[in-house]
Amino acid sequence: MKPALLKSAGRPRPRKRKPDTTPVEIRPMRLEDLPEVYELGRKLFTAEKLPTLYRCWDEDEVMNLFSAEPETCLVAVAGDRVVGFALGSVMQKRGSAWRYGWLEWLGVHPSWSRRGVASRLVRQMTSLFIERDARIMLVDTDEANRPALAFFRKLGFGQELRHVYLSQNLDSHPEAIERRERLKDEETD
Ligand SMILES: CC(C)(COP(=O)(O)OP(=O)(O)OC[C@H]1O[C@@H](n2cnc3c(N)ncnc32)[C@H](O)[C@@H]1OP(=O)(O)O)[C@@H](O)C(=O)NCCC(=O)NCCS
Repeated sequence: MKPALLKSAGRPRPRKRKPDTTPVEIRPMRLEDLPEVYELGRKLFTAEKLPTLYRCWDEDEVMNLFSAEPETCLVAVAGDRVVGFALGSVMQKRGSAWRYGWLEWLGVHPSWSRRGVASRLVRQMTSLFIERDARIMLVDTDEANRPALAFFRKLGFGQELRHVYLSQNLDSHPEAIERRERLKDEETD
């Protein structure tokens, strides 16, 4: 008997889930996809994974992006399940001849990862941006998000620029202290 088989004898073997082989289709997002897209994003974009506050995944964010530019919102569906999404927008800076396609949110369900789903979403988004005269495509993520960085680099994104966020605690600002005291006084009156 092979040593590997001897080792596992008597012990229940961990059951390996077969990967879902349902074909994945990339299509424009529809209004009825919104709850599923939001739920998937909620699992992927947790507070630890989104340390910068300027990026906030909530229902309004998805709704606003979809209402403003539904033509640059895509979903990946397997059967009737949303397994990935890409939400983008096209913008033009005032006084600039350049139009930018910004891929704002990209996500793939972990059980579908490394199967080329995000690559297909990005390729289709790229075509949508080109059709809308975008000349530069932008993506951004936290510098600690190694999988996303590896993914974007693999797809040819480069010219990485770092952006620094600065903050100040306003709780100790004299106006904030004065306001808290005023509110307390109003409550006790
Ligand atoms: C990043 C993410 C979108 C990748 O989705 P995906 O469908 O697994 O990506 P693909 O299968 O198309 O990967 C293409 C290539 O990218 C690279 N890549 C993807 N995920 C990677 C990982 N976890 N680690 C290292 N490289 C990775 C690989 O080179 C991969 O090719 P390979 O599998 O042949 O080696 C997905 O992991 C995700 O949803 N992450 C959480 C949300 C997020 O961070 N979004 C991006 C910022 S908004």
